[in-house]
Amino acid sequence: MSTLATQAPPRTLLERSIDMLACSYCGADLDFQGESALRCRGCARSFNIDNGIPQLFAPNDPEAQKGDVTDIVKSFYEENPFPNYDDIDSEQTLLEKARRGMFARLLDEQIPQGAAVLEVGCGTGQLTNFLGMHYNRRVFGSDMCLHSLRLANGFRSRCRIKNAGFVQMNLFRPAFKHEAFDLVVSNGVLHHTADPYGAFKSISRLVKPNGIIIIGLYNKIGRLTTDFRRFLFRATKDKLAFLDAHMRNKNYNADRKRAWFYDQYKHPHESKHTYSELLDWYESNGFEYLSSIPKIDPGPFTDEEKLFEPHDKGTKFTRWMTEVEMLLSGGADGALYIMIGRKKKT
Ligand SMILES: C[S@@+](CC[C@H](N)C(=O)[O-])C[C@H]1O[C@@H](n2cnc3c(N)ncnc32)[C@H](O)[C@@H]1O
Repeated sequence: MSTLATQAPPRTLLERSIDMLACSYCGADLDFQGESALRCRGCARSFNIDNGIPQLFAPNDPEAQKGDVTDIVKSFYEENPFPNYDDIDSEQTLLEKARRGMFARLLDEQIPQGAAVLEVGCGTGQLTNFLGMHYNRRVFGSDMCLHSLRLANGFRSRCRIKNAGFVQMNLFRPAFKHEAFDLVVSNGVLHHTADPYGAFKSISRLVKPNGIIIIGLYNKIGRLTTDFRRFLFRATKDKLAFLDAHMRNKNYNADRKRAWFYDQYKHPHESKHTYSELLDWYESNGFEYLSSIPKIDPGPFTDEEKLFEPHDKGTKFTRWMTEVEMLLSGGADGALYIMIGRKKKT
């Protein structure tokens, strides 16, 4: 019988899931090279592991004309990790906050048992850490910003969250195998790239047939309120920053307020997209529309909402009306909307 002293320590998520990873340069399998590096079986490149975070970032193809947006946005987030943590954040407060936000709670309740989940552009990792608290799930958070990932992984390790792990990668050069995940979620990310549709196609390849994709984007109409505030803030040298409700939030510390303000009003690159545009991306790439937040079909969004069941995708007009409603209700939370789809079996 084994004693405590002779038992092997529990394996990390990375060790348990090494077969899901792939070289971000050539796509071949990766092996551990000691404890602090990974090595590619194909091109023999070595990748450092920084305190448990494999550094698998590969830059965009230098031939790509607009490639430098990735570098500019990367530098921006290295200085302003988003959304950052509050001073008092702990496993308990993260659980409470995530459960208060209906989307994260419904997601946590409705992800099938045993699922492999990837968050693309996880920032400081709140969603990944929250979903990784479930005992029967593997959740990877990926981002190109190492500063954000260190904050995310620091929280994970302090709270001993066993089923979450973090990887540094460029979403245009994924470090995971095609069709490795039951669920890929990317919230507030693709609109900060030079080619949001190319970014969508890149990460949609990581979803298994019958698996789920969740994309959150700035809405073209709903975000007009933010555009107006940005203009106002610029004209008044940020003296009217208090007009944004997040800047008056007493529960935010200075780091979180700064992260929000810079993300919304000082970002070097963003684009905005309509529901119909994103729906077209889904349908052109073999995804069936399931649901969205805010909803397109009539009726309130309740805590009974079935995220992964097919809902009516509406018409161009009803989708446009949903966007106008976002604007009229003040474009809350930067007018981000979320669309959920299922990859059809081929
Ligand atoms: C607004 S933050 C969103 C963070 C998180 N998803 C959330 O909802 O709080 C956008 C994140 O996307 C990441 N990102 C942008 N372009 C990326 C790329 N090409 N590859 C990987 N991550 C990228 C940024 O580093 C940043 O952390």
